[in-house]
Amino acid sequence: MPIIAPSLLSANFLQLQRDCDMLNNSMADWYHLDVMDGRFVPNISFGPMLIDFFRKATTKICDVHLMIEEPEKYTDAFHKAGANILTVHIEACKHLHRNIQQIKQLGMQAGVAINPHTPAEALKDILPDIDLVCIMSVNPGFGGQSFIPHTLNKIKALKEMILAGNHDVKIEVDGGVTLNNAPSILAAGADVLVAGNTVFKSSDPEATIRQLKSL
Ligand code: DX5
Ligand code: ZN
Repeated sequence: MPIIAPSLLSANFLQLQRDCDMLNNSMADWYHLDVMDGRFVPNISFGPMLIDFFRKATTKICDVHLMIEEPEKYTDAFHKAGANILTVHIEACKHLHRNIQQIKQLGMQAGVAINPHTPAEALKDILPDIDLVCIMSVNPGFGGQSFIPHTLNKIKALKEMILAGNHDVKIEVDGGVTLNNAPSILAAGADVLVAGNTVFKSSDPEATIRQLKSL
């Protein structure tokens, strides 16, 4: 069964308690928090302060996706806020290996995200050191975009690399995941589905999470 990580970027921010209660009661495994700095991506979302609130209102695993420059400056702040998994972008890190060590030394799981233009092969030498790869299936910055179809090839290529090296690394797919395309994403080798609009814009988010979980 896939791991389901609803993205709160698509939640109603005037009803966050309601949406957190829904998550707690649902079959979601993780919840996904998108941090954007207006530099790495052309949008600004929220930072550690809000994550601290989510942490107190939710019982699930807190999966934080940093779409920010110089993430090493904020690792400690996101740890204190309660992140269980901290993911940085390969395109934002000059010293990726050092950043990953920093995250792991604080006791968090470490993830690396790759943009649509970055080949899976770029991850080869970091796979032994990480817990998660987040494959962006849209250009990061906004919820509600369409899935880029050739991402499926990248998921397959990465899965082969992980199996060949016998690495303990999960593949998370982020952006444009729907009930329609999720089966092919899972068949390509994904372990974790992030879903923003598909969950929070549906008439029954809890039922939608259940449907994704049963795929
Ligand atoms: C995009 C974010 C995604 C986003 C997904 O930059 O990283 O996590 O919230 O939203 P949907 O599922 O609506 O594409
Ligand atoms: Zn994300």
